[in-house]
Amino acid sequence: MAKKKPQKAKQAKAKTAAKKSARKVVKFTAPKKANGNGKSNNLPKPSSKPYGQDGKALTGVRILDFTHVQSGPTCTQLLAWFGADVIKVERPGVGDITRGQLRDVPGADSLYFTMLNHNKRSITIDSKHPQGMRVLNALLIKTCDVLVENFAPGALDRMGLTWDYIHKLNPRMIVASVKGFGPGPYEDCKVYENVAQCAGGAASTTGFREGPPLVTGAQIGDSGTGLHLALGIVSALYQRIRSGRGQKVLCAMQDGVLNLARVKLRDQQRIAKGPLTEYSQYGEGVPFGKAVPRAGNDSGGGQPGWILKCKGWESDPDAYTYFITQAPAWGAICDVIGKPEWKTDPDYATPKARLPKLKAIFATIEQWTMTKTKFEVMDICNAVDIPVGPILSMKEIAEDESLRKTGTVVEVDHPTRGKYLSVGNPIKLSDSISEVKRSPLLGEHTDEILTDVLGFKANEVAEIKNSGALSAPKKEEKAA
Ligand code: COA
Repeated sequence: MAKKKPQKAKQAKAKTAAKKSARKVVKFTAPKKANGNGKSNNLPKPSSKPYGQDGKALTGVRILDFTHVQSGPTCTQLLAWFGADVIKVERPGVGDITRGQLRDVPGADSLYFTMLNHNKRSITIDSKHPQGMRVLNALLIKTCDVLVENFAPGALDRMGLTWDYIHKLNPRMIVASVKGFGPGPYEDCKVYENVAQCAGGAASTTGFREGPPLVTGAQIGDSGTGLHLALGIVSALYQRIRSGRGQKVLCAMQDGVLNLARVKLRDQQRIAKGPLTEYSQYGEGVPFGKAVPRAGNDSGGGQPGWILKCKGWESDPDAYTYFITQAPAWGAICDVIGKPEWKTDPDYATPKARLPKLKAIFATIEQWTMTKTKFEVMDICNAVDIPVGPILSMKEIAEDESLRKTGTVVEVDHPTRGKYLSVGNPIKLSDSISEVKRSPLLGEHTDEILTDVLGFKANEVAEIKNSGALSAPKKEEKAA
């Protein structure tokens, strides 16, 4: 007993010290009681501060970010932009593998890494070292609200960080994971972007009918799933206000891709009842098989659309426009392309009459679009409510002034690589304005997290550091 007392006092003192030195974090508190119409006397009064100056949406939320590559980092970057304090835990000496992948500046973190890890802090911890686990435990118990990870299936458990262990340590902790597949025959598989695009139904429905399946350039498997996971985390945080407990959040990449390809599962069910009349293959008289076919550039909605050449297409691979022959705009289309007689011609006047001739109709429209630049087509058509879209190259997007103005494309400065362009937060909140801050260097915040966040004393920090838990193994040890 006599021994326990000073120990307790010591712990209490350390706790107060940690509290004092920790960053000022406003903790998530629940409104006490809501009545039937959702109003509560305990809800805070509307802030009188100007919009954008009353903290951020996720101020007070701290994330233990155990993510790597793309899917997980996309999620935690979004949370960081909304104000969460994201502490990225990386393997000593190596870090997130993307730091060194597709490097364009020797010795500097790659664009792959920097563009996915803005607004985060980095600490290096060997999670398989006992002293490393000591730091992880402190992060889990003392300070974090959410652990986010996208390791291969079973890796977190192999570190000893099972759900049961974490939940016992900190019942409020939310554990969020990206995996390739959900529970089932493939749950143990490692998965990358294109595997998910294929398994989620996107590849089989992308491309031209006569050609092989195609993957898309948009990272719907990785970034798409990260986006889904972020919504899951925010929802779990909201539920925790009521329930007081954390929960597991799982997003399988296959599920995320399928969610984005849901119109194709819609068509899979329609195909059993008859041909998909808005697909150009219907107009071409090509019979449908048992599964949804690839539809080229047909529009996914009920309105026929196609990609058409514009002025300069011979030398510019992106001189194209997407053109939609939406029924209400048909009259305007006929006038613009110089075919006013089609407005009343029974062979062209109705959507049904046009379906078998779509290919020829688009060829006629293309004769007109080829006389204009894609931007001229945009101006002329939008003035009369014809929906069209210029095919923008990444060069054009990078130089687009309006995207710079909204912060969707931002220039960021980095100490070792200099200035680079990135995509800012695509989600704009009027009272939680995102500032894009550069990604952290490997282990840049190790000391500040150990002392300011976790409250370790100088001798404890020295003990942890001397154990080798936070640094890369020495070269001789590696070789041995
Ligand atoms: N300290 C010590 N070990 C660490 C560590 C740290 N800080 N961080 C990671 N590791 C270890 C892991 O514990 C694991 O070890 P184990 O296999 O002995 O248990 C090891 O590093 C490798 O992790 P893993 O996730 O298997 O990496 P990988 O490079 O082999 O696989 C993926 C990469 C992306 C294929 C895989 O992580 C995966 O399938 N993730 C889920 C789906 C996903 O997100 N895919 C898209 C990525 S964009």
